[in-house]
Amino acid sequence: MSEQTDSQQARELAGRRIVLGLTGGVACYKAAALCRALTGVGAAVQVVMTEGACRFITPATMQALSGQPVFTSTWDERPADGMAHIRLSRQADAIVVAPASADFIARLAQGRGDDLLALLCLARPAARAPLLLAPAMNREMWAHPATQRNLRQVQADGAHVLGVASGAQACGETGEGRMLEADELLQEVIAFFTPQALLGQHVLITAGPTLEAIDPVRGLTNHSSGKMGFALARAAREAGAQVTLIAGPVALPTPAHVRRIDVQSARDMRQATLARVDAATIFIAAAAVADWRPAQCATQKIKKDGNGQPPAIALTENPDILAEVAQSPRARAGQLFCVGFAAESENLLENARRKRERKGVPLLAANLGPATFGRDDNALLLIDEHGATELPRASKRRLAQQLVAEIAQRIAPVAT
Ligand code: C5P
Repeated sequence: MSEQTDSQQARELAGRRIVLGLTGGVACYKAAALCRALTGVGAAVQVVMTEGACRFITPATMQALSGQPVFTSTWDERPADGMAHIRLSRQADAIVVAPASADFIARLAQGRGDDLLALLCLARPAARAPLLLAPAMNREMWAHPATQRNLRQVQADGAHVLGVASGAQACGETGEGRMLEADELLQEVIAFFTPQALLGQHVLITAGPTLEAIDPVRGLTNHSSGKMGFALARAAREAGAQVTLIAGPVALPTPAHVRRIDVQSARDMRQATLARVDAATIFIAAAAVADWRPAQCATQKIKKDGNGQPPAIALTENPDILAEVAQSPRARAGQLFCVGFAAESENLLENARRKRERKGVPLLAANLGPATFGRDDNALLLIDEHGATELPRASKRRLAQQLVAEIAQRIAPVAT
């Protein structure tokens, strides 16, 4: 996780005890990476494997990665009372079954206890030990009415079924049913433990730079990487919001369960924003929108003509998306909470205060441009009507979580 740089972030699941269950499937190889990712963020992981899982990956591998001997049998004699299913399910803050095979889901749906993993899922105190399932199977097995029926049943019984990916499968077929990647599953587990401070909110975020075309192959842009806006999208969704992310040209993966719209220019970004802002309750303008664009975009590549004279490029001002949204009737009526960013090169506090008033936003996050562009960490100065609060240098991931918490404190909860 390249974005996880500060120690607080790196220990996001510190103190959490997770039973990681593996059932039979090729996706067991991803469970090894998941185990490592979970322990990497501080979770204590106890692995339980079915007989089928042991055919795909060895308990020795999982023991090495989790740092704990693996449980594979109902009749394991290590617990003094001989009741592994009770001890393990009572010690867990969550049970994550990844991969969850079609057969395992069918057995869960029937409430069977024919191996240790099924038994401990059945024996778990549902209110204290949530059950997360990461299905993995062939596309036909996934689409089969029996599997879909079983999935509905286990959900009705309280399990949280994570999504599946679509794509090439180990069997050579292509379709839905692949297990999510280890990173995505880690995000899901972290989201699961995150307080749902934005539940019921719809957050619209702009992120990244814009690219203002000069001709078909050149453009004006800036050094914004989009990392802060993407981290905010992830943090807001983990806090329970529905998130739409409008991204300028950046090379970043979309956070899980975030709706992403790619745009190029400031005018594209404005159009995409205005088309969606009516559904939003929070608007965060994290994009570094180009202030100016070439007045004309040449239809063909501008050529050097050999006389040593560079072309004169006339500029015209771009629309200010944030200022426009902040002046909209819903924002003025308090139905849309607007947050702006300010990247300054000097005199942060004074410039940021003035910017907050000029843009008409209740909250503005100011940073020093050269100290943030492209980096994984940053420091923010939050300005609101009461004054300024510093968020000291930390990973953008951590700052995004803090900013989301600050926003949550300032908005009225949505009735759900
Ligand atoms: O005026 P300045 O570009 O410094 O303002 C920065 C803030 O305004 C950021 O939140 C940015 O996303 C937003 N902005 C915008 N449209 C523009 C320029 C800036 O939404 N054309």
